[in-house]
Amino acid sequence: MEKEKLQFGDVQETALITLAIRASETARPNARIRDEKAKEIIDTLGVDVSKFDPFLSHEGVVARTILFREQLRELIGRYPDAVCVNLGCGFDDKFQQVDNGRIRWYDVDLPDQIAVRRKVFEDRERCVMLGGSALDGAWTKELPRAEMNLIVMEGVLEYFSREQVKTCLNMLCDCFAHGYLLAELHSPVLEKNTKHHDAVKHTNATFGWGTKSGKEYLALEPRMTLVSETSYNEEMKKYTLRGKLFALIAKNMNNRLAVFRW
Ligand SMILES: C[S@@+](CC[C@H](N)C(=O)[O-])C[C@H]1O[C@@H](n2cnc3c(N)ncnc32)[C@H](O)[C@@H]1O
Repeated sequence: MEKEKLQFGDVQETALITLAIRASETARPNARIRDEKAKEIIDTLGVDVSKFDPFLSHEGVVARTILFREQLRELIGRYPDAVCVNLGCGFDDKFQQVDNGRIRWYDVDLPDQIAVRRKVFEDRERCVMLGGSALDGAWTKELPRAEMNLIVMEGVLEYFSREQVKTCLNMLCDCFAHGYLLAELHSPVLEKNTKHHDAVKHTNATFGWGTKSGKEYLALEPRMTLVSETSYNEEMKKYTLRGKLFALIAKNMNNRLAVFRW
């Protein structure tokens, strides 16, 4: 029987880039990250991801997966009963990478994306999917109260305007008493160059507001403080000569993992 052809929204489609890269890295002999389910998801959904795995994006996604995972593990070590949210989760299964047997985890994305995710994932005992937007906190009412919330936004804020970033940050501080936000940020250079991005140029998505420093977020939400900011170059330069060269040439242009607290 022929598979139904899935329709993705412009930004929703970008979740296939990270999915493709996690699958192809997992298949390598010395895989730096492993996502055994990614290939199965591609096959089950019947999506063509052949154009979504160029070198720089590949290295960037591997780097960010490692940086986000290590940062999350460290925070979960400090807050073992945290309620965690992967906001804009796409097809990522970060819960499985960091679960300590106690955290409660919510995979949140736009309702049409969660409907596709439900074709390949099921809710688990402490890991539940929710349809909702980073621009509207209605979904947060479904979550239990917790002393600490850990919010992950990997590959999501890059597509928001400055106004939308503000709406999102304000929503998080209004809806969660205390939390950490682990966010991927991008530079003003990328903001103007979607057409030159090696993977995103193959989608209809457009990059939004880019920043030189996470400090620029603090003017939008004064309840937040910036804890740390790490360029993906720090991880990328460990593996390949091209990664090292890119770190030198594009010193301030690579994406960063910024950690905010409130
Ligand atoms: C590049 S993908 C990243 C997916 C996942 N975080 C990962 O790293 O594989 C961007 C994701 O952001 C989601 N997204 C876009 N706008 C959103 C919004 N307003 N609220 C929640 N998710 C959103 C898209 O549906 C998509 O799944």
